[in-house]
Amino acid sequence: MSRKLPYSRVSVVGLGYIGLPTAAVLAAHGIDVIGVDISKEAVNAINAGRIHIVEPGLAALVQRAVGAGLLRAAEKPEAAEVFVIAVPTPFLQDTAGATPTPDLNYIRAAAESIAPVLKPGDLVILESTSPVGTTEQMSQWLQSARGDLVFPQRDTNSPVDIHIAHCPERVLPGRVLEELVENDRIVGGLSAACSDAAVAFYRRFVRGNCIVTDARTAELTKLTENAFRDTNIAFANEMALICNHLNIDVWELIRLANRHPRVDILNPGPGVGGHCIAVDPWFIVSSAPEQAQLIKQARTVNDTRPTYIVEQVQRVVHSLKNPVIACLGLAFKPDIDDLRESPAMQITLQLAKTLCCELLAVEPNIHCLPRTLVELAVEFADLDSALARADVVVILVDHKEFLQLNTTHFSHKSVIDTRGLLPRLDNGERGEPQRGSRGLLTDTV
Ligand SMILES: NC(=O)c1ccc[n+]([C@@H]2O[C@H](COP(=O)([O-])OP(=O)(O)OC[C@H]3O[C@@H](n4cnc5c(N)ncnc54)[C@H](O)[C@@H]3O)[C@@H](O)[C@H]2O)c1
Repeated sequence: MSRKLPYSRVSVVGLGYIGLPTAAVLAAHGIDVIGVDISKEAVNAINAGRIHIVEPGLAALVQRAVGAGLLRAAEKPEAAEVFVIAVPTPFLQDTAGATPTPDLNYIRAAAESIAPVLKPGDLVILESTSPVGTTEQMSQWLQSARGDLVFPQRDTNSPVDIHIAHCPERVLPGRVLEELVENDRIVGGLSAACSDAAVAFYRRFVRGNCIVTDARTAELTKLTENAFRDTNIAFANEMALICNHLNIDVWELIRLANRHPRVDILNPGPGVGGHCIAVDPWFIVSSAPEQAQLIKQARTVNDTRPTYIVEQVQRVVHSLKNPVIACLGLAFKPDIDDLRESPAMQITLQLAKTLCCELLAVEPNIHCLPRTLVELAVEFADLDSALARADVVVILVDHKEFLQLNTTHFSHKSVIDTRGLLPRLDNGERGEPQRGSRGLLTDTV
């Protein structure tokens, strides 16, 4: 007789970019999954075998899992052995200029919603990106809701009814299904027994290593990874400012500096977008404001970048009579359709608000422009017609379609190249930018 594997019934709470792929991958490993989401549309779509987000391979996986009866969605939590919480953790900014603070209300609501169905022996894993101390806080919220059960508190190894751990998610959009299985996991239990329980769960579907630490270190690990990226990008962006001031080609400068065996400077750009790198460093700053000076400054450097690019465009436009401007790219990174927190969107919006000239936007990954741009009379254009009509081209994203161009497409135009695309076209490079490949931030071809 086959023995039942541990954790055969799992509830994933929050079925977005992280939760839904996680639920589908668990189901693909033969685990009975109940997905929970407060969005009726998401629940209905999933139960019909459809998906409401874009991620390669996910539609087929969800359809199979739902068809096999291994994945089903609900608006309210039901009993399970493991609860994986993957709800949003945005930040709040009360007043302009104030340090943003993390909004933990989604985690609190999710925890309070699962509390009534918890039973001794269950495991609760917080996967949402969280400021230090959130996992302990979540345990306290659960304890307040369920006085009849014993929940773990920090640094105590006394017996508990419910195990709790933080395991931050580090997948890359576009590669989520592979990375969910292959990436190493940081497993931070509120006690050693909590970590053991969480490792036993992840071993059911993760091929990467499960590396054990405590919950607070796990929380800070994830934030540190993104703060590190943000700070390094800020350094490149600051070098771009310095080079512009001193009339030096930043791309050539970085290419030369990177010839040093222990130097690896990233590329400057129009700013930092997305929901992780531009958000997570604030969780460190708000919890250690005196200490996190560099991290805070990096955020400021990257956040002011779109305004700087807008000023550069304005300067170029000022010298031209009734110019047509084309913005190439709106997404927050290449080859995706996600415009949320995108510096390219921010720049296009600011240009539309401040310039009285024809503004074209090219974004090959969407079917129509967002309403905010339409209302400002921005015209959705395809790449060929935008290049035929524009006097000024602002390159904001290095989508693969733009990498197929050659420099003659930009002849006799003013080009503000925030991605170092032109030098790559010169060199016939079609892929990832070489760090510091030659080129100019602002150029007239
Ligand atoms: N998207 C990424 O690439 C990524 C990568 C690593 C980590 N993260 C982190 O993972 C977490 C989730 O991010 P996401 O991108 O999946 O967010 P998302 O907005 O795509 O999805 C969150 C889902 O949670 C649902 N929800 C909100 N409150 C709920 C509640 N009380 N009960 C049930 N469902 C609820 C929402 O309706 C939504 O469908 C965040 O902390 C994020 O920072 C995201």
